[in-house]
Amino acid sequence: MENNEVKAEQAVGMPRIGDKAPEFKAVTTQGEINFPSDYSGKWVILFSHPADFTPVCTTEFITFASMADQFKEANCELVGLSVDGLYSHIAWLRTIQEKIEYRGHKNVEVKFPLIEDITMEVAKKYGMIQPGEDTTKAVRAVFFIDPQGTVRSMIYYPLSLGRNFDEIYRALIAMQAADEFGVATPADWRPGDDVIIGPAGSCGTAKDRMDGKEDMTCQDWFFCQKPIAKDEVLSKILKK
Ligand code: BEZ
Repeated sequence: MENNEVKAEQAVGMPRIGDKAPEFKAVTTQGEINFPSDYSGKWVILFSHPADFTPVCTTEFITFASMADQFKEANCELVGLSVDGLYSHIAWLRTIQEKIEYRGHKNVEVKFPLIEDITMEVAKKYGMIQPGEDTTKAVRAVFFIDPQGTVRSMIYYPLSLGRNFDEIYRALIAMQAADEFGVATPADWRPGDDVIIGPAGSCGTAKDRMDGKEDMTCQDWFFCQKPIAKDEVLSKILKK
């Protein structure tokens, strides 16, 4: 078999935006989970890291764990995965809590489940093994799965690049706001910024838009925005 054929065989399917999240049952540091059914009615971020006891992953876990309550408030649970075994996960998370400080966070307890995936069954289902990068470690994948179990977005990073968790949180809130208000969000959007209204025909006529008859500002027929106050966005999305 040619090298490329071997690599293609190792990288089984990859869910796409709009697909139902592939189902699996797994052992985690918090007990067994059935995915995604255990998370029905909630958003869930399923993410992979290359290996336990590695430095970049350690900084990522400290950062994610320190933001876990923030994600919970946005009705979102976190689930990690690597192709390591359960006892490695437990030992690594204990070491992080007992010894490692990163950006002022210390004594950090990782309370969200971390999946053991020695067989790579789950990692392969989610396209987390990308053989051009590494044949035995998962890349840094992030899957956003909505309360109906649909994959809404995914981000992949190579082994050497630690993720930006502010962006992961921003993307979650932006997708929730888009669902809640029936709008789209522009580049770098954050709650309180103007949102984008869909194309003419989907919401008022182009003439009404250009005449300023609707609650929106149009610079041209295709480019209409409207304000939504930060409080309004956050009060709809965040649990009190
Ligand atoms: C890390 O997390 O530090 C790491 C893991 C795998 C390859 C390179 C870096």
